[in-house]
Amino acid sequence: MYRHIINSTKKLSHINPEIQGHFSEHLGRCIYGGVYVGENSDIPNVNGMRTDVVEALKEMKIPVLRWPGGCFADEYHWMDGIGDKADRKKMINTNWGGVVEDNSFGTHEFMELCRQLGCKTYVNGNVGSGTVREMSEWVEYMTFDGVSPMSELRKKNGHEDPWTVDYFAIGNETWGCGGNMSPEYYSDLYRHYQTFVKNYNPDKKIKRLAVGPSDKDYAWTETLLKRCYERAGSWNNAHGFMDGLTLHYYTLPYNWDKKGSATIFNDKEWYMTLAKTFYMEEYITKHSAIMDRYDPEKQIGLMVDEWGTWYDVEEGTNPGFLYQQNTIRDALIAGINLNLFNKHSDRVKMANIAQLVNVLQAVILTEGDKMVKTPTYYVFKLYSAHQDNELLESSLDIKTIGLEDEYKLPNLTESVSVNKDGKIIITMTNQSLDESAEIESVLHGSVVKGVTGRIVTEKMNAHNTFDNPDVVKDAAFEVTGFENDTIKYTIPPRSVIALEVTV
Ligand code: AHR
Repeated sequence: MYRHIINSTKKLSHINPEIQGHFSEHLGRCIYGGVYVGENSDIPNVNGMRTDVVEALKEMKIPVLRWPGGCFADEYHWMDGIGDKADRKKMINTNWGGVVEDNSFGTHEFMELCRQLGCKTYVNGNVGSGTVREMSEWVEYMTFDGVSPMSELRKKNGHEDPWTVDYFAIGNETWGCGGNMSPEYYSDLYRHYQTFVKNYNPDKKIKRLAVGPSDKDYAWTETLLKRCYERAGSWNNAHGFMDGLTLHYYTLPYNWDKKGSATIFNDKEWYMTLAKTFYMEEYITKHSAIMDRYDPEKQIGLMVDEWGTWYDVEEGTNPGFLYQQNTIRDALIAGINLNLFNKHSDRVKMANIAQLVNVLQAVILTEGDKMVKTPTYYVFKLYSAHQDNELLESSLDIKTIGLEDEYKLPNLTESVSVNKDGKIIITMTNQSLDESAEIESVLHGSVVKGVTGRIVTEKMNAHNTFDNPDVVKDAAFEVTGFENDTIKYTIPPRSVIALEVTV
């Protein structure tokens, strides 16, 4: 029996819905064929956006979408993606397969997609090959309501009203594909560029994000904060101020040369991959500790705006398109990380799994007019009950599992929140391949009146295909019983569960 203690009166931090955010890059078939098929497609669409994909994402409650990259962002010139589509410039997508990008999906299309999804907007600016003027004018084009060259151009292109840009990143991976810069050089560029990301609407201020570290690059975090965080607490256009610092960490079974298969793996590779995803906890904790020194009031969010699994591409697909399948192993990785983000929601204010459709750990795969929801999709759907809640203090007995010393990991993870109606949401993962766990959740300070549950579970490499789209999906989960402040239940191996508790 594993004791799960919940202090139902101790609220620790707010769970920003954006913690369950997504990322869409001009990469492979994420945008073209994934979300966008064009107005003239036979595939049902509204203004070019696939109806099946939009409906599925709305049902999953997508809170925020990042665009246009990734590495693509630092070679994207936004003016090439506005105006009459026939006149838009074509370019080479040098990072992702060298294919021709026809710019038919640009700023207007992204904003239309977010309108249909009802989600927040996260636009990633170009520092690597773009100018300050270009970035500044993009922000003016998107958000200025008065008379100006850029707002007039937007109106001429068919959009009278400004849009809301919730988040704007000053570059992407500037330590790598975004310019191979040193932290010192980028810090100076950050201070410079962000000055011209103007807030035209005081009621809808843009949150400006600085490129943060990859994995355990603590020196990057330290340098960025040392050089840029001198005007903390000032929510205007102060030089050097930032609202968020990004963090990227991908889970690979092996390494960048030989990543490992998405669907064909053994028990050792199961535990190895899950053990590696737990590095996220170490990275968040250590980067947060540095941030705490500069920003004890936690005004800067840690934005994990790229995370998820990265496997060898599916055989027979373009290696530059990063198309991979998605199994129960990915469902566990999603559940573990979303629990971790909840636990660190005092500092983690946004996280964007890579990527939305057809790329890396996608929630949706498409092929022509067909669409499947992946196991990861169902975990996001279950966890959506945490969005906008307050994290509650909780702890769970665990044991260490795994096959070899270097690949040890906890058998269970959990997080608990309370929503605005006072309902308590418990999510839990069981990483074991073969052992179920009997749980006793004790809700100190509450009397349990009812519990409903959902579960995602199957054999370890189970996945959904276009021929068999419903192998993995969420199903009802029954608890063994509840009395006073205690709920008893058994979480099966290889599973993710969510309970909604009425107290
Ligand atoms: O998500 C794929 C790529 O991974 C992104 O373009 C880049 O930012 C990261 O290296």
